[in-house]
Amino acid sequence: MKRTQLTTTADLTKEEVDFFIKEADELRGKRTKDLDGVIVGSLFFEPSTRTRLSFESAVHRLGGRLITVANASSTSMKKGETLNDSISVIEKYADILVMRHPKEGAAAEACQVTKSPFLNAGDGANQHPTQALLDMYTIHKEMGKIDGLTIALVGDLKFGRTVHSLLHLFVLYDIKKVILVSPEQLKMPNNYLDMLKEKGIEFEESSELNKHMPEIDILYMTRIQQERFEDLDQYYQLKGSYVLTADLVKSGKPEMRVLHPLPRVDEITTDVDALPQCAYFRQAENGVYMRMALLKNLWKNYNQ
Ligand code: NCD
Repeated sequence: MKRTQLTTTADLTKEEVDFFIKEADELRGKRTKDLDGVIVGSLFFEPSTRTRLSFESAVHRLGGRLITVANASSTSMKKGETLNDSISVIEKYADILVMRHPKEGAAAEACQVTKSPFLNAGDGANQHPTQALLDMYTIHKEMGKIDGLTIALVGDLKFGRTVHSLLHLFVLYDIKKVILVSPEQLKMPNNYLDMLKEKGIEFEESSELNKHMPEIDILYMTRIQQERFEDLDQYYQLKGSYVLTADLVKSGKPEMRVLHPLPRVDEITTDVDALPQCAYFRQAENGVYMRMALLKNLWKNYNQ
């Protein structure tokens, strides 16, 4: 059966990823009628700027309509309603559901309740599959390929859902090497390292960024995420662990590209923005096209 729901990147095939990359590129800049008359529920129970607005822009570009929860405190969840009950009701109001939720596993839980087309827009520190797909699209668009690249993931690898989702996609390709740069306290969880080992992808864990610069093709920076820390002192201790400056970028390959899911706090100085290596604003734009590709095709599959 063709895909109608996306909760994790773990069950995506290489064929699907290649297909969505191609579709996203074909939809770049277009306005279509693929979602003509279709109502999309945009349910954001956790803060978001890019993900929500790019999803909503994608719906409009496909000719669809929206109902939106942009703030959990404005819903009955605040009154103690369970996620299951909320989804059981909202699926009657919308044809497609897009959901962000602070709890790990919330997307899979919602899909136990609904058979409607469903897209996980981030569930706690767990997964962010649409971001990972737009990241792969950006890597492909910037470099002309994915195979053979050395990719560094930098920052909060413990709580960063975007890097978790990305690793499941890297193992589908012939990535040359993955460099995992983080402070000791924010290392990539073992289950992801085991997956890299199992799939035979070369990787190296490191606490230092500078020495790796000359070998990196894609430098994927992430934010140290204050909202995931129980102990705020620890956050303040780790904040500022890695700061990418224009000088540091210039110590790398000229064709290297810097990605970041955004928002940035202090991990990339603004003097990087003017360099050709800066790809994070183009990456944010690519989010619209990848989300168009996903919405269009999940809806199409559902109706076949
Ligand atoms: C990321 C997220 O929400 O996980 N942002 C995004 O979706 N563009 C990363 C982050 O918040 O740091």
